[in-house]
Amino acid sequence: MTKDKISLILASFYDDIANATPKTLESVRTQYLGRKSELNTVLKSLGSLSIAEKKAIGATANRAKIEMEKAIATRGKELNKVVDEQSIDITAPGKKYPSGHIHPITQVLEEVVDVFVSMGYEVADGPEIEDDWHNFEALNMGPEHAARDMQDTFYLTSGAIPRTQTSSVQIRYMENHKPPIKIISAGKVHRNENEDASHSWIFYQIEGLVVGEGVTFADLKGTLDLVAKKILGPGTKTRFRPSYFPYTEPSAELDASCPQCEGKGCRSCGGSGWLELLGSGMVHPQVLRNMGIDPEKYSGFAFGLGVERIAMIKYNISDIRYFWHPDTRFLEQF
Ligand code: DAH
Repeated sequence: MTKDKISLILASFYDDIANATPKTLESVRTQYLGRKSELNTVLKSLGSLSIAEKKAIGATANRAKIEMEKAIATRGKELNKVVDEQSIDITAPGKKYPSGHIHPITQVLEEVVDVFVSMGYEVADGPEIEDDWHNFEALNMGPEHAARDMQDTFYLTSGAIPRTQTSSVQIRYMENHKPPIKIISAGKVHRNENEDASHSWIFYQIEGLVVGEGVTFADLKGTLDLVAKKILGPGTKTRFRPSYFPYTEPSAELDASCPQCEGKGCRSCGGSGWLELLGSGMVHPQVLRNMGIDPEKYSGFAFGLGVERIAMIKYNISDIRYFWHPDTRFLEQF
């Protein structure tokens, strides 16, 4: 009878410690092994029994007591382990979540645009998918124009083309705005180009256009000289070389003194001390006429530069393809 009672106590004890938490384990101990426990009551009641019975039940009760103590100790260890695994060690070093940064091309692009914005230029935008009119024809590059050859692109049957130059934004803007005009525009362009260290089939350009009354070549020179100094350093010298673009007359290319050797001549500048920065010129009267702007009254200048090229000059980078490769050893340097 009493033995059965002990078995029942044990069964309920095992249920309870299985469900115990680190907080309740101690109360399970008190419940089953404390002074007021059922087991203690059983032991206290032994007095009325025969010696043989006392011995037998006493032994069973003691075994049960030892068994329960052991079980509580084991369960206690188990529960502590779980607590350890789940708890936070506030002294441990924090996890690093690496965050990226702005791509070097975007950095240079924003820097150049900011220089123009500080000079009062408005930022204009145009689509990357263009049509022949905006990309070529309105810029005085008719269907048979030889200059198209340098800017071969991917012609879609719909007539759409990935733009080859941001000069298309000049047209987009003049379609909707009358002079005075003073804009800067940055974006991606595409060409049918064989890739090498200095050519990519996709790259970024920044375009500028100023149209107003009495705008002269001196304005163009002063503006671009100042910009070159702001971007490459105050000691930068500039020179203009005659060039040709169908949408400017006269046209000029701007060279800057090599920032690596300060014009003395080194490997970066091929020993000449100069690096070609951009194309520019006075807006061709035909382009103004195409836009319904009277070239007798208004004049303007325009320029276009390759952002990768500026970044390569600024940071002495030898290969344009680095910009498009996801190699963090390169990107982390900026
Ligand atoms: N569109 C020319 C190019 O992609 C760059 C350029 C030259 C832009 C002269 C101009 C400019 O606006 O006046 O090579």
